[in-house]
Amino acid sequence: MERLPDARQSGTFTIGGDLTVHRLGFGAMRITGKGIWGPPEDPDEARRTLKRVPELGIDFIDTAESYGPYISEELIGEVLAPYPRGMVIATKSGLARHGPDIWRPIGRKEFLRQGVILSMRRLKVERIDLWQLHRIDARTQRGEQFEEIAAMQKEGLIRHVGLSEVTVDDIQEAQKYFRVATVQNLYNLVNRQSEAVLEYCAQHGIGFIPWYPLAAGNLSRPGGAVDEIARKHQVPPAAIALAWLLKRSPVMLPIPGTGKVKHLEENTLGANVTLTDEEFRTLDAEGKAAWKAQQVSGRS
Ligand SMILES: NC(=O)c1ccc[n+]([C@@H]2O[C@H](COP(=O)([O-])OP(=O)(O)OC[C@H]3O[C@@H](n4cnc5c(N)ncnc54)[C@H](OP(=O)(O)O)[C@@H]3O)[C@@H](O)[C@H]2O)c1
Repeated sequence: MERLPDARQSGTFTIGGDLTVHRLGFGAMRITGKGIWGPPEDPDEARRTLKRVPELGIDFIDTAESYGPYISEELIGEVLAPYPRGMVIATKSGLARHGPDIWRPIGRKEFLRQGVILSMRRLKVERIDLWQLHRIDARTQRGEQFEEIAAMQKEGLIRHVGLSEVTVDDIQEAQKYFRVATVQNLYNLVNRQSEAVLEYCAQHGIGFIPWYPLAAGNLSRPGGAVDEIARKHQVPPAAIALAWLLKRSPVMLPIPGTGKVKHLEENTLGANVTLTDEEFRTLDAEGKAAWKAQQVSGRS
C-alpha cells in the first residue's frame, strides 16, 4: 500500500518553551527566481506547493525578507493567510540584496526594525512567532544589534528569537540580551561543521534548524549508502537524508526547500521513515567520512 506523506510523524519540538511544531518543516527560499531573486519560474506551481504544505501536516515554515527579496513572504501571506491554527511562520532579516546571489549583512538597528515591521505586513501577522537574525553583521556593534532585537521582543513585535550561521560563543553572547530559541546553521549528512553548535543546542533545549538539509553528495549515487537504504524503504533518497537528520537529534528541525509539489511530497516522506539504529550508524559513518575527505581535499 502506498504511504501518504505525513509530517506529523516527525514528532514535535517546542520552540522557546511555548510554541510546539512538528519537527519536519518547509523552507520557502525556493519559491523565488534564479539566484533567489525575483519571482519563481512557475508561480502557479509555487502557489500549489505552498497550499499543499499544511495539507501534509507541516506547521513550520521558514522564510526571510531577503528571499526574492520579499517574494517568498508575499506568496506565503497571499496563499496561506489567515493561517491554519498552529501554523508557525519563521522569518529573518539582516541581509540586504543588491542582485541575484548577492547577500550583504546589515545589522544597523533601523534596518532590523524595518525588517520586522515589513515582514509582519507581508506575512499578514501582528507578531512574528520566530524572528531570526539572518547574519550577525561584523561591521555593526553586536550590542546595537542584540539590544534592538531584545527591545522588539519586549515590545511584542517578536515572540521568539533565533540566530543563523553562528558559533557557540555567538550564542552565549546573544543570550546575555535575549533567550536564543533556535539556531539555523548549514548542516547535513556530508557537512558536519556545526556539530559543536548542534550539541550545544541539544544540551540547552535550543531548536537546531539545519539549512541545505538534503545534500548527501555521493552517498545518493546509485549503490551509495543513501540510495541503498532508500530502495529498502521504498522512498526517494531525499527522504532518507531527512530521516537521518530527524533521528540525529530531538532538537533537529529540518526545513527542506522546494518550489514543486512532487518534491514537497517526496521530502515529507522523510517523516514516515524510521531508520534502524544500524542504518543510522551506516549513514552517519559514511557522511562523516565524506565530510573528512572534503576537508582534506580542500586543504591540499
Ligand atoms: N539561514 C541561512 O543562511 C539559509 C541559507 C540557505 C537556505 N536557508 C533555508 O533553508 C531552506 C533549505 O535550504 P536549501 O533550499 O538551500 O536546501 P535543500 O532544501 O537541501 O535543497 C533544495 C534544493 O533541492 C531541490 N530539491 C528539493 N526537494 C527535492 C527532491 N525531493 N528531489 C530532488 N531535488 C529536490 C530543490 O529544487 P526544486 O525547487 O526544483 O525542488 C532545491 O534546488 C531554504 O528553503 C531556506 O528556508 C537558510
